[in-house]
Amino acid sequence: MIEPMRPIVVAGNWKMHTTPSDAGDLARTIAARTREAGVIRVICPPFVCLAAVGDAVRDEDVGVGAQTVHHEAHGAFTGEIAAPMLRGLATWVIVGHSERRRDAGETDDLIGRKLDRAVENDLRPILCVGEQLADRDAGRAAEVVDGQLRGALTERDPAALAAVGLVIAYEPVWAIGTGRNARGVDASAMADTIRTTLDGLGWGERATRLPVLYGGSVTSANIGEFFDEPSIDGALVGGASLKPDEMAGIVARAALTARARGLAA
Ligand code: 13P
Repeated sequence: MIEPMRPIVVAGNWKMHTTPSDAGDLARTIAARTREAGVIRVICPPFVCLAAVGDAVRDEDVGVGAQTVHHEAHGAFTGEIAAPMLRGLATWVIVGHSERRRDAGETDDLIGRKLDRAVENDLRPILCVGEQLADRDAGRAAEVVDGQLRGALTERDPAALAAVGLVIAYEPVWAIGTGRNARGVDASAMADTIRTTLDGLGWGERATRLPVLYGGSVTSANIGEFFDEPSIDGALVGGASLKPDEMAGIVARAALTARARGLAA
């Protein structure tokens, strides 16, 4: 399913916000305010809000995603959610978010197994990678991201991952929730690193068609800097994705890029 040209994607990660009683209204409002040609919109609410959001955007072209998924298909894992349980509720899934690496001890190995479950269940994964501030200050950012990708993707079939439409989100940890965003040029350089790593993992031509998003304190005010970079294909938005005005601005800017890249009439 990797598209002939790289699509423009704006995905909202609502993290641990909203409840089943208010998520539907928020999703409906955001969907109505972001109808733009050439932009794939995705909302990733908490698990318990997936049904409400799905109902709210049923008549809209908005994808619904989970924020994580378990690495096993079923079993004695109290409190966890397996990929087959998401059928009918989500068509996207975020995998390897830095907050889960930090708080749930997710390793590259586990993240790779989550990708396997996504592939088996036809969920489109958004694989998150990104360095800590100390790594960037030490000039190791590219090395860290390369290692995360190798840890999760080595020996995984590029054709299968391309078939479900793998998306990579570059989210420098120091930029998440801090109000401090990376520079467009740095995100662009990392997108090139990501595609080079994938090429080295046997992706070949598919690496050039892989969408790379930027995430980390994205707002309607700074999104332009990222869309100005030809190797960046969209954004994974955290805090601003809960604000309809912000999402309207971000998706409107994304639509300009979609038109400039020949993805929309
Ligand atoms: P913020 O946009 O709140 O920095 O969060 C980014 C993020 O983690 C999206 O997954």
